[in-house]
Amino acid sequence: MSGVVVLGISGGIAAFRAAELARALVREGYEVFPILTRNAARFVSPYTLSILTGHAAQVSLWRGEGAAVDHIELARRADLLLVAPATADVLAKMAAGIADDALTTYAVAHRRGVVLAPAMNTFMWRHPATQAAVEVLARRGAVVVAPEVGELACGDVGEGRLASLERILAAALAALPRRGPLAGLRLLITAGATREPLDAVRVLTNRSSGRMGLALVSAARRLGAEVRLLAGGGMAVFEVVECERFETAAELAQRLAVRAPEADCVLHAAAVADFRPAHPVAGKMDRRGGALTVELEPVPDLAAGMARPQGRPYLVIFAANASHELSERAHAKLVDKGADAVVANPIDESGAGMESVTNRALLLSRRGLRREFPLQDKESLARELLLTLAPELLQGR
Ligand SMILES: Cc1cc2nc3c(=O)[nH]c(=O)nc-3n(C[C@H](O)[C@H](O)[C@H](O)COP(=O)(O)O)c2cc1C
Repeated sequence: MSGVVVLGISGGIAAFRAAELARALVREGYEVFPILTRNAARFVSPYTLSILTGHAAQVSLWRGEGAAVDHIELARRADLLLVAPATADVLAKMAAGIADDALTTYAVAHRRGVVLAPAMNTFMWRHPATQAAVEVLARRGAVVVAPEVGELACGDVGEGRLASLERILAAALAALPRRGPLAGLRLLITAGATREPLDAVRVLTNRSSGRMGLALVSAARRLGAEVRLLAGGGMAVFEVVECERFETAAELAQRLAVRAPEADCVLHAAAVADFRPAHPVAGKMDRRGGALTVELEPVPDLAAGMARPQGRPYLVIFAANASHELSERAHAKLVDKGADAVVANPIDESGAGMESVTNRALLLSRRGLRREFPLQDKESLARELLLTLAPELLQGR
């Protein structure tokens, strides 16, 4: 287990969404202890939370009424108190230090990070008492995941809807200490395809789906690393991660120049253009002009942008090549690009490479590591790669 989360649930319609949140946290490897207010138990069954988390959901403070863990004992272990949804009532009580049920009593005993996800009717949210409570709690260090604008359970449309689970989860994960073999390691991961403009609406791009990069993000986070992602503008990012977008290779180079020096290791899995249109057209190219010849110019190598004063980050380059020259090209890239490691995968085998959900790879490192990874799904390959590279990544820190 990588940490302990107390999931507080209070009595609003959005309480049912806490079940999904509990499941996501458990999937991320956290031990989750649910505490519901009595009113929350009207909206979502404590039994559901108990089953999803493997810990008896607490609704009462009193042992005779099912309280399994003492609140002081739980506070000794918990890394985070996440209250989602947080009602106007619970926010006000927490701000005032009122402790009159299992959740609010726990909140006063809790010692570490707090994340609050309020959800309520717009007028309740805008009420000065609610805003004042949120301000007090934020000043004390709570992270408030502001509610979103949308259709509310009462039928109104306005601000007050529980934030998306992705946003709540991101805030919770950011507030939790990292544990695991890569704990303390700052990874910068690039993923997806560059898009080089031909004109105002057309681009020159490639088939990279960004899946391998996302698999690396997910595996690295689970292994305890701090991760930042630079993602191609065309790929869907469904991982909860700090993410910046790029379109062209030049934009990616700019982002790398800023972010690489902050990282211990760069996993460069983005598929970057080798060539780009030399003279992109300002408007939209018109076919009435007849056949067209587009001049392409080479794109400068990105690895150079990763230098940092006290030695550059450990650089892992992902390379896609034909299988017959996989090993030879991987060796050449170690030398030519100054990479510390190269992960080479074939572009001409079914079930491997771009757009595929599976991949096989050859890993070579400058320090002499050589390992072949058989065809497997990209998630397990990402984990295997990171675990194999871990000693070198940690040494180079
Ligand atoms: C159908 C229904 C929906 C409610 N939804 C919310 C809500 O989304 N947010 C909120 O702050 N209060 C909501 N309330 C009011 C709270 O349930 C009420 O203030 C209660 O005292 C909160 O108790 P708790 O904070 O101990 O859970 C709702 C009430 C009802 C009857």
